[in-house]
Amino acid sequence: MSLPPGFLDELRNRLSLGQVVGRKVMWDTRKSNQGKGDLWAPCPFHQEKTASFHVDDRKGYYYCFGCHAKGDAISFVRETENVDFMEAVKILANEAGMPVPERDPQAQQKADHRTVLTDVMEQAVQWHRLQLQTGAAAEARDYLERRGLSPEAQARWEIGFAPANGGVLSALTGKGVEQKHVIDAGLAAESDRGGAPYDRFRGRIMFPIRDARGRAIGFGGRAMDPNHPAKYYNSPETALFDKGRSLFNHGPAREAAGKGKPLIVAEGYMDVIALSEAGFTATVAPLGTAITEDQLRLLWRIAPEPIIALDGDTAGLRAAMRVIDIALPLLEAGQSLRFALMPEGMDPDDLIKTQGAGAMQKLLDQAIPMVELLWRRETEGTNFDSPERKAALDKTLREKIKLIADPSIRAHYGQAIKDMRWALFSPAKTGPRKGPGRAWNPRQDPWKRDVSPVASSKNSALGTGAAPEDHLREAVILATLITSPGVAAEFETALEQLDCRDPMHKDLQSVILRHIGTDDLRAAVLQELGDLPLEKLMGQSHVAISPAVRRAGDVEVARLCLAEEFAKLMARRGHAREIEDAIEDLTGVADEGLTWRLAQATAAVDKAGRGDNEDRAEYAVGENGARMKKDEQDAFDQLLDQIDFAKGASRPKS
Ligand code: UTP
Ligand code: MN
Repeated sequence: MSLPPGFLDELRNRLSLGQVVGRKVMWDTRKSNQGKGDLWAPCPFHQEKTASFHVDDRKGYYYCFGCHAKGDAISFVRETENVDFMEAVKILANEAGMPVPERDPQAQQKADHRTVLTDVMEQAVQWHRLQLQTGAAAEARDYLERRGLSPEAQARWEIGFAPANGGVLSALTGKGVEQKHVIDAGLAAESDRGGAPYDRFRGRIMFPIRDARGRAIGFGGRAMDPNHPAKYYNSPETALFDKGRSLFNHGPAREAAGKGKPLIVAEGYMDVIALSEAGFTATVAPLGTAITEDQLRLLWRIAPEPIIALDGDTAGLRAAMRVIDIALPLLEAGQSLRFALMPEGMDPDDLIKTQGAGAMQKLLDQAIPMVELLWRRETEGTNFDSPERKAALDKTLREKIKLIADPSIRAHYGQAIKDMRWALFSPAKTGPRKGPGRAWNPRQDPWKRDVSPVASSKNSALGTGAAPEDHLREAVILATLITSPGVAAEFETALEQLDCRDPMHKDLQSVILRHIGTDDLRAAVLQELGDLPLEKLMGQSHVAISPAVRRAGDVEVARLCLAEEFAKLMARRGHAREIEDAIEDLTGVADEGLTWRLAQATAAVDKAGRGDNEDRAEYAVGENGARMKKDEQDAFDQLLDQIDFAKGASRPKS
């Protein structure tokens, strides 16, 4: 314990144990002798009516003659507040008016551990690079070349290869690295079935991720098979790797931005590489999760107005909206964002490959300010032919602007919105409006389709073909939401899009949607629909036996079950875009493990749907009763690991 010498004595001296304890007990005034610091009370650590708990206020010790609990002020706070030693010291020091020493007693130890892990990661980078040169990696090298990465570029990005059967664990332990450290670095994982640890990365192209100071902290591993359900597999969170606070290519991008290059934020590793290789060297990407507040702050430390380069698809736009929502409260003078939208269906990598760096430069030049994107989201493709609709628009925008903390920026946003509003509603422009910002090319604006509520529900393919299986899935989904209301918010969009066939399901769906956020959906349902629907729903045998309902309140099981059921339902009713949307929606609130799980469930259904002639022996039965191929089951196990790691990173929906 590295508190300054004498600190604890001083603390004990300043405190009155009698006062500390007195907040939790009722002194027995007849038995106690205040003047002598001799205090008695019924014991707070066990049930009793008599006063056998004794405090010696002068010595600062307590002792219970009933249960033999004993200690001093610090242990008393530890026990009664359920905090650790340092926490208790802090609480008491505050009370005694003593400044708390800030030093983390384990800081040195943690730092040492990190140094060890950094070294392990560095060895892993080099080992994977070597593997890329072996015969086993011929296919990987071909793949990289096909994607336009010359051997020189591969070397620049330190790209490596994880062989199909892994090997990094045995290679590193063979060089004397402790197995525990390979696991702590996120390269291998303990098997929960008691077997030997396994390599996390297998059969993947390895992109090393370095922190701003150049230390290797993680990997992104890409599957070469375009149909692989988990395209990227990233290092889990480790003592080194904090996904929400790291950026791919951070160091080099910071340096390039310092030399005047525009700071660009792309979505993927390959985008960063393609952009950098094409001369846009100040490019970064988040690491498999949606951009976080911390990452925005990192960006603003590099440049005042980073350009977010968005994939030209609905998912890209959704991502943009999420960035806006995070960014609005943080805006300050010299701390803003611009958005460059790629043509539909393209990411920056595709654009550069097909149209060259010039086309990219042009889009960057046309990048639009945040306020304009905000405006477009609310207006594009929507008709404002009634006062009510105009009022609704005003209300939404006003609410957004209210999020801006900086008063001067807020005023500017208000003015900009007013101007655009005027341009939209002014009598000179009747009929379908164009809105400001001519740079916007409606042809490459996939958004339109998404904005009008009428259009999107008409486009919905979820309503076609209701098989009995679908009815069961709906029931399980609804029951799970009702029994685990805490996760409902994460599945709001998916639930919204669900086209329930059964009128009773429809009613339940709408009650749940209206009450998302309350912690007692059951009560809401009972109140609005009476007890019959709930009885009917829960009474169905497959609902009653579903793992999520049986283990009601187990958030993780509920999440997995919902993700899987939604994915399967959507896959069956089949509209790729809706699946993507749901997946995209989840990435912001949940984590990439869950995203993959969804993608995987979809792939599993795809396979399952191909016919019943497949060899059933190959299938294992998963947690939710789903048929899964063995290798999918393995991947699933890995993913469960991932979810554990990512849990800490999940954010509630704003
Ligand atoms: P993309 O699907 O856009 O991948 O995902 P990409 O970078 O363009 O890769 P290529 O061009 O298909 O090879 C963008 C980013 O999202 C994360 C990765 O960080 C990826 O770079 N991601 C994607 C995952 O973490 N897991 C996935 O399964 C997919
Ligand atoms: Mn790509």
